Amino acid sequence: APVVVAIDGPSGSGKSTVSRAVAARLGLSFLDTGAMYRAMTWWMLSNDIDVDDAEAVAIACGKPVIVSGTDAAGPTITVDGQDVSGPIRGPEVTAKVSAVSAVPAVRARLVELQRGCAEVAPRGIVAEGRDMGTVVFPGATAKVFLTASGAARAARRAAELRAKGVDEATIAAMAADLDRRDAADSSRETAPLAQAPDAVLVDTSELTLDQVIDTVAALVEE
Ligand code: CDP
Repeated sequence: APVVVAIDGPSGSGKSTVSRAVAARLGLSFLDTGAMYRAMTWWMLSNDIDVDDAEAVAIACGKPVIVSGTDAAGPTITVDGQDVSGPIRGPEVTAKVSAVSAVPAVRARLVELQRGCAEVAPRGIVAEGRDMGTVVFPGATAKVFLTASGAARAARRAAELRAKGVDEATIAAMAADLDRRDAADSSRETAPLAQAPDAVLVDTSELTLDQVIDTVAALVEE
């Protein structure tokens, strides 16, 4: 069976960076499933769909063609052929992605795409998100749940945004939004953020990035 490494955790736990680095080190493909939910949200906003209307979102969600490139060295994401890797990280999409990702029809569609990516990965895949170990890949080779203290997560997110040149007022607004998003992701009915019973919990608060990468890679190689 192909190798599937399922990595879940809240925002700011270091998931994306760690998952990508582990994939690169082990020669596996990489899938950022959050980017797919963001791409879906970007398309809804671009097409004036009322994202707070779950029924409207469910009806429309079959339309966009979302394609994730799974090369750990340079992941890509397109919607109807357009590169959306920039706009999907913006505050507009970030503010609305929890509402869109809570719609069951959206999840059904993206879960299918995610499993398809794993099937065609030549040597296996590292997939990161909120429900990789619980819903999408219940039989994964290795499952990891990354956590970090609220303070550590907020500090990481702020540092990332600052490095991108985002101004301090936006950083503060996005920090407040992060708590709201984590609460929404954890309490929704369909596939809430949760640690799978067989996932290994790794608290990254006091670890360097390299230490986390070593820890996760070791779990896969076990
Ligand atoms: O900002 P951050 O990197 O933490 O989030 P992300 O991984 O880009 O995911 C953005 C949003 O997509 C999350 O807040 C969830 O609402 C949703 N998501 C999800 O519902 N299920 C996944 N497997 C991945 C993301």
